[in-house]
Amino acid sequence: MASQKQNDSSAAGYQPLFKSFATDAIHVGSEPEQWNSRAVVPPISLSTTFKQHGPGKHAGFEYSRSGNPTRSCLERAVAALDGAQYCLALASGLAATLTITHLFKAGDGILCMNDVYGGTNRYFRKIAAEVGFDVSFADLTKLELLKAALKPNTKMVWIETPTNPTMKVVDIKGCADIVHEHNKDIIVVVDNTFMSAYFQRPLALGADICMHSATKYMNGHSDVVMGLISLNRDDIYERLKFLQNALGAVPSPFDCYMCNRGLKTLHVRMKQHFKNAMAVAQFLEADPRVDKVIFPGLPSHPQHELTKRQCTGCPGMITFYIKGKLEHASTFLSSLKLFALAESLGGYESLAEHPAIMTHASVSENERKELGISDTLIRLSVGLEDEEDIIADLDQALMCFAAHLKRMEMKS
Ligand SMILES: Cc1ncc(COP(=O)(O)O)c(C=O)c1O
Repeated sequence: MASQKQNDSSAAGYQPLFKSFATDAIHVGSEPEQWNSRAVVPPISLSTTFKQHGPGKHAGFEYSRSGNPTRSCLERAVAALDGAQYCLALASGLAATLTITHLFKAGDGILCMNDVYGGTNRYFRKIAAEVGFDVSFADLTKLELLKAALKPNTKMVWIETPTNPTMKVVDIKGCADIVHEHNKDIIVVVDNTFMSAYFQRPLALGADICMHSATKYMNGHSDVVMGLISLNRDDIYERLKFLQNALGAVPSPFDCYMCNRGLKTLHVRMKQHFKNAMAVAQFLEADPRVDKVIFPGLPSHPQHELTKRQCTGCPGMITFYIKGKLEHASTFLSSLKLFALAESLGGYESLAEHPAIMTHASVSENERKELGISDTLIRLSVGLEDEEDIIADLDQALMCFAAHLKRMEMKS
């Protein structure tokens, strides 16, 4: 990729890190010269309205829903990090999904990866389909299934990679090439929440839109709910900018400030997430109390080679199947002390959750079964604590689980 150069800190075998990523994260959009005060840290502009020189003659901002100085600082920074010309910030990841879907109309076809965040699945199935979109799902890790699933009315292909929670990796370039060969007007969207801008640039791989739930790694501190949309195409940007204002699902200036602040350390955080997650994945894979570990950074992951071809590394997301049944998974999760049993991911703190009961409860039981979201599946968001403390916590919770398993075996 032209925009990348080999960098000392590139992980072995992965794509080289994106050039000047850290410098852009820290400086783009935060130039002190844009403010009369020359504030080095962008101020939080709470004003909902902006004084005009004369009717219709303003200094770039009119009303805070249509544009806000603090939001603009964030949007410029994210555009640089995604290798994009434009970025739009929305009130949540799902607000970004909804805003993108409003590019289309009832009757238009939406093809979605079959394994996606439960809320995305719920939105497409229970809301978009209800108002007349022709929504279908396919396993887009298999390019022949993508080809077969494209229809004359398909207007958008929605990819999530790695998928939440089963960590399947979709070949972004492979998909974008097939879709655009079929019809260059179909919009390929990649939900880049898990990888973040630091590990994956979907636009450089041929996607038309890169979307993030910034609630996760991009903000990285579990204190903001936000969505981000990055893109290069002028025509789609103009329409999305219109929709951002017309639908009105915009984030607050305070949240924009917080997310922009989170971005300043994205590169440092992601490197450490990768390092800690690799250690945890290796620990779990070697443990007899664990059935199977799914982490794209492990050579055992079916798309490990693809991950290295399209990413600069891996985030802190690990999924694993614990031995036993639902009650054993519950015992393990309730025994964790350092990991919080909580939904969400991508913050500095380690979190663990049970997708079948928590984040993916809105996915039907049959569909969960098909996707491998079983009762023994556990999802970890490995945080930035000391590696040995993270592993010690998992080890002691596995001990509690193993004791429980033994007691059950003795009873039966
Ligand atoms: C992959 C992915 N996409 C989208 C979303 C939705 O984002 P938000 O919760 O910010 O609306 C989530 C939330 O967990 C997610 O994990």
